[in-house]
Amino acid sequence: MLPSLPCYLNGEYSTLPDAKVSVMDRGFVFGDGVYEVVPVYGSCLFRFEQHMARLDRNLAELRIPNPHSRAQWREIANRLVAEYARVSGADPDKTEQLIYMQVTRGVALRDHAMPPGLTPTVFVMSNAMKLPTTAQRNDGVSCVTAEDFRWKKAHIKSISLLGAVLARQISVDAGATETIMFRDGYLSEGASSNVWIVKDNTLMGPPKDNLILEGIRYGLLAEICRAQDLPLELRRISREEVLAADEVLLTSATKEILPVTLIDGLPVGLGKPGPLFAQLYAGYQAAKLQARLQRPAP
Ligand code: PDD
Repeated sequence: MLPSLPCYLNGEYSTLPDAKVSVMDRGFVFGDGVYEVVPVYGSCLFRFEQHMARLDRNLAELRIPNPHSRAQWREIANRLVAEYARVSGADPDKTEQLIYMQVTRGVALRDHAMPPGLTPTVFVMSNAMKLPTTAQRNDGVSCVTAEDFRWKKAHIKSISLLGAVLARQISVDAGATETIMFRDGYLSEGASSNVWIVKDNTLMGPPKDNLILEGIRYGLLAEICRAQDLPLELRRISREEVLAADEVLLTSATKEILPVTLIDGLPVGLGKPGPLFAQLYAGYQAAKLQARLQRPAP
């Protein structure tokens, strides 16, 4: 039985056990939709505008009209954050949550082609955010590698996540935190995170193309690097470069920035989190604080 947590479905506020969608929803039948995961720190929706801009890009790619204005999305998210804090007995100023937003094409009889004029299905919920543990940040995490067997539209934050599920399970089965994927010998990303390397004090990440999801942390790391005068390069990175890197980092809404110290059982660099991780992590925490100070009124 699902816990009685608050959610929003097609204009109604409800709870997870009560919210129901049609079996003919194209999200259920085809995985025909997109999603966003927004971290929330002390009731502040972190990088919300950037997440909304990515949602706009993704919906446009799928030719689904955005059913809500930014202000409406913000209002739904804020209301769920407040309600989640209330039912979980948390102090709204201290609660850390994750807002999940999903838009599918809507309900129709099964036909692969996009039926015109459907009303999109909108589902939003809040979850507790499980940040990496202090031990994971202090010691780093282990990863395994795999060939990237997903499709060539990885830039779409699609709810069709079977590739990600299969990729992530490879690391679960190996007792590791994430699966780092390579396509034709070049780094793409993790099952549900972006992957970065550090060599000679330069941070490097794969280019923002169709082979990876441009995480919201792409823009954030660029800002932190600019502010701290750290060189950042986006370019194709070979498997050999990853294995010979001084540092390897993962980023995502839930992982923030996490150091990788073991890949396929071999140590990364000196086998412990490096100085650039420490610098970028500090920049990340400062950005969170700044966002809370500047937060628009709910
Ligand atoms: N995943 N690449 C993939 C394939 C992802 O699924 C994610 C995030 C990222 C990082 O994106 P961002 O920095 O915007 O979180 C990169 C989310 C957290 C998820 O699916 O739960």
